[in-house]
Amino acid sequence: MSDRIHTLSGYFHEYQKSVTQPEEFWARIADSFHWKKRWDKILEWDFEGPNVKWFQNAKLNITENILERHLFTIGDRPAIIWEPNDPEEEGRTLTYSDLYREVCKFSNVLIEQGVKKGDKVIIYMPMVPEAAIAMLGCARVGAVHSVVFAGFSSNALSDRIDDCGAKLIITSDGNFRGNKTIPVKAVVDEAVARTSTVESVIVYQRTKQEVVMKEGLDHWWHELMDGKAETHLAEEMDAEDMLFILYTSGSTGQPKGVVHTCGGYMVYTKYSFENVFQYSPGDVYWCTADIGWITGHSYIVYGPLLAGATSIMFEGVPTYPHPGRFWEIVDKYKVNQFYTAPTAIRALQAFGTEPIAPYSLESLKVLGSVGEPINEEAWHWYHTHIGKTRCPIVDTWWQTETGGIMVSPLAGITPTKPAYATLPLPGIHLAIMDTEGKELSGNSVEGNLCVKFPWPGMLRTTYGDHDRCKQTYFAAYKGMYFTGDGVKRDHDGYYRILGRVDDVINVSGHRMGTAEVENAINEHPLVIESAVVGYPHEVKGQGIYAYVICDMKNRTEANLIGEIKDTVTKIIGPIAKPDKIQIVPGLPKTRSGKIMRRILRKIADGSMDSLGDTSTLLDPDVVDKIIEGKV
Ligand code: WT7
Repeated sequence: MSDRIHTLSGYFHEYQKSVTQPEEFWARIADSFHWKKRWDKILEWDFEGPNVKWFQNAKLNITENILERHLFTIGDRPAIIWEPNDPEEEGRTLTYSDLYREVCKFSNVLIEQGVKKGDKVIIYMPMVPEAAIAMLGCARVGAVHSVVFAGFSSNALSDRIDDCGAKLIITSDGNFRGNKTIPVKAVVDEAVARTSTVESVIVYQRTKQEVVMKEGLDHWWHELMDGKAETHLAEEMDAEDMLFILYTSGSTGQPKGVVHTCGGYMVYTKYSFENVFQYSPGDVYWCTADIGWITGHSYIVYGPLLAGATSIMFEGVPTYPHPGRFWEIVDKYKVNQFYTAPTAIRALQAFGTEPIAPYSLESLKVLGSVGEPINEEAWHWYHTHIGKTRCPIVDTWWQTETGGIMVSPLAGITPTKPAYATLPLPGIHLAIMDTEGKELSGNSVEGNLCVKFPWPGMLRTTYGDHDRCKQTYFAAYKGMYFTGDGVKRDHDGYYRILGRVDDVINVSGHRMGTAEVENAINEHPLVIESAVVGYPHEVKGQGIYAYVICDMKNRTEANLIGEIKDTVTKIIGPIAKPDKIQIVPGLPKTRSGKIMRRILRKIADGSMDSLGDTSTLLDPDVVDKIIEGKV
């Protein structure tokens, strides 16, 4: 059953209903799911706590809504189509029946490993179907999964193991990415050695490279799965029980564990998936994200599978073995909805249109964009060369914390405008706030983006530190969820996201806290102090620019810069490696010692003529020296 909206007037009608009678609205959507027990009350909330409870006392298991629910109706339909990194290797298709069987078997494995409801399981895996099977297995037995992007370093991994007290890790021997083979298991070994909670590690054999298997700790996936029963009764979960924790960066040094719960997340991801992408039964849908990010959770695994969709999972990268790889896959599987990030579009744009020429792309109906503002040039390229001007582009704005898409066109229904995420989904009550805390009503306004009413997919807390959740999202504006993004509402009432207004930078659609990168840089023994800012980057959207004060000892600048980059790779992972490092004699500080990042941002993006008044700085001369040495 589908709650799909089909017309623009239908959208306005539903939207209206969702704001005037939100509880009735969501009850109707929720009614189409399988609940073991229905709710007593739809919603209880206050944004002061914050305390948000959807579908109170309802009981369910999200995997029954993905598996049992589809087994007898569309059991033979492909649920996951897997395309390997190397086009020469054969792909795999798992139907809904296959997925049911695999998830049940893996649930039995988890039980055998002593995993119980509420236990935390870290998934650190390549993009293989087993990653989704692992997530769903956890959800089925009531364990809380925390997927960690397999590009994070062992330091970053051990921080997350410690923060959630993970009992089990699911990983692989290695990971194929482009022409590289990444030794994933070795990273896990290092992380496990530094922590004390992990009781077992399950290793999926992917690359067949040599790995150390510790007796009593490490187990092969295929050995554990061998002979396991193909049924497993799903654990009964409360709607507000934790489904997963996903770590994300903020403006402080430590990533936080965003907590999503079973009932609301289920309802919101399916509803938003069907409506934004206008998915019809039988369509082939492909989201290119990694399951290590929220996009992979909500729009490769949960949303599509709840909707009975066919979801493609791609192991590789856009440019391997050639820059037409994405389009080759689109034609191979006749993809109807294609969802990717602006950074990938810009990277492919740089190769020109030649790599696209061999492919027809005629199956495409809808194109999606996610993760960062899409610039107009990339939008037009995507629209013209990939969508052949025939496919609507859905520019979807949302966050790890929101669980699902919040502002986006409904494909083919909402008229689009390049670079605009357009209008909020039903159920999303937005507010634009000025810096004084006043709501800006009407059109043609610009300010900070907030949400003033709960939606089912929202985060409930940050794991182990509820106060941090309150301070980060609910303290800036009383009674509102603050997104951290700046936004403009134009004369048509359309929303355009302007980017982060806090100390978070968005590198290729991945969120990095400047403080987090600074902490990593400061780990280098010769670094005295550092300041990190974002700057406009042609492909990545934003690049990382680091100003570093060092004790040079007898190093050359080039040596030291190389060492600092290695340090960041080791502490966080390659995604946090600064694009530019400038060794500076000092940093612009106020008399109270605060680093003036505004000035550093201006220098990094080359706007030296608009630095503003620098005379009140502790040492005004330092600015000239930094400008002189700009890289
Ligand atoms: C931040 C959230 C949403 C899943 C992937 C990133 C930026 C996201 C858009 C968009 C402009 C966007 C925002 C947001 N962002 N989508 N369509 N247009 N900006 O999730 O890592 O939680 O990052 O990404 O700044 O706050 P995330």
